[in-house]
Amino acid sequence: MTYAIDVRGLTKKFGNQVVLDRLDVTVPTGSIHAVLGPNGAGKTTFINVLTTLVRPDSGTAAVGGSDVVARAAEVRRRISVTGQNAAVDDVLTARENLTMMARLLGLTRAESRVRTDELLERFALDEAAKKRVSTFSGGMRRRLDLAISLICRPQIVFLDEPTTGLDTRSRRTLWDEVQRLRTEGVTILLTTQYLDEADALADEISVLDRGRVVARGTPAQLKAQVGSDIVEVRNERGVLVHELHTDGTPRDVIDVLSASGVQDAGIVTIRRPTLDDVFLAVTSETGSRHDGARATREVAS
Ligand SMILES: Nc1ncnc2c1ncn2[C@@H]1O[C@H](COP(=O)(O)OP(=O)(O)O)[C@@H](O)[C@H]1O
Ligand SMILES: [Mg+2]
Repeated sequence: MTYAIDVRGLTKKFGNQVVLDRLDVTVPTGSIHAVLGPNGAGKTTFINVLTTLVRPDSGTAAVGGSDVVARAAEVRRRISVTGQNAAVDDVLTARENLTMMARLLGLTRAESRVRTDELLERFALDEAAKKRVSTFSGGMRRRLDLAISLICRPQIVFLDEPTTGLDTRSRRTLWDEVQRLRTEGVTILLTTQYLDEADALADEISVLDRGRVVARGTPAQLKAQVGSDIVEVRNERGVLVHELHTDGTPRDVIDVLSASGVQDAGIVTIRRPTLDDVFLAVTSETGSRHDGARATREVAS
């Protein structure tokens, strides 16, 4: 198996703080890998190392087969990055941003125009092409940012929290674009704080917590670790008193409630697992070990 991204034992410290702790991550060519983790987990630092902006302290990382330290220039030719701080110029229009970047990347004037038109159309920005970016919504800005990053037809695309702060519709549009990129053979590594995003997009997920990969697998594998749904039990005052894991079938919900001895279940609701639940499950795996599928969490008494 050849990997577009191949990370072994990667470690990065800032001062005494270990921000990336012996990470192993492999991403097959043409797949989408999500690095899922809360604020401060080390997601941006990881992207910065992979995109040659930050030097690791130990371990290795190869992107497109080239080492990010020894062959940084080669790596840069194959990748693009879009981050939380979009690299777009507010004063310019969408068209001007694209054309300027295309020219900077060495395209001729004619090539720049063709590529700009293609990308404006692809990202549904042709109507807004003549408007200044300062008038754009968050979703339009992210689309433009992604469009700019595709000018040079990268083989590997890094997206740092591409949908944070976006409304539902803009998120969906961006998800569609990410999926479309994969169908074109592009490898994508994205970071996110949202389980649903990782779930919708990723072939594989690495859960990052304080610099360590605490869980990895396909979305289905990760969710199986927490049980697919969670039964919430509230008392008559509406206070959450139990959270129980279930596979979501009515039979299982009944079994789970009776097995855990929840009497007089006040209000019972079922919800999908969240990132919190994945964390709860993976930290309980490494800490005090218990049966993940049947874990009961006492929330209040
Ligand atoms: N240049 C830096 N110097 C010192 N500490 C840093 C630097 N960049 C990030 N950190 C620290 O590393 C940790 C991980 O940060 P970051 O990679 O930005 O996480 P995330 O993107 O997951 O929110 C945080 O504790 C942050 O304060
Ligand atoms: Mg970040």
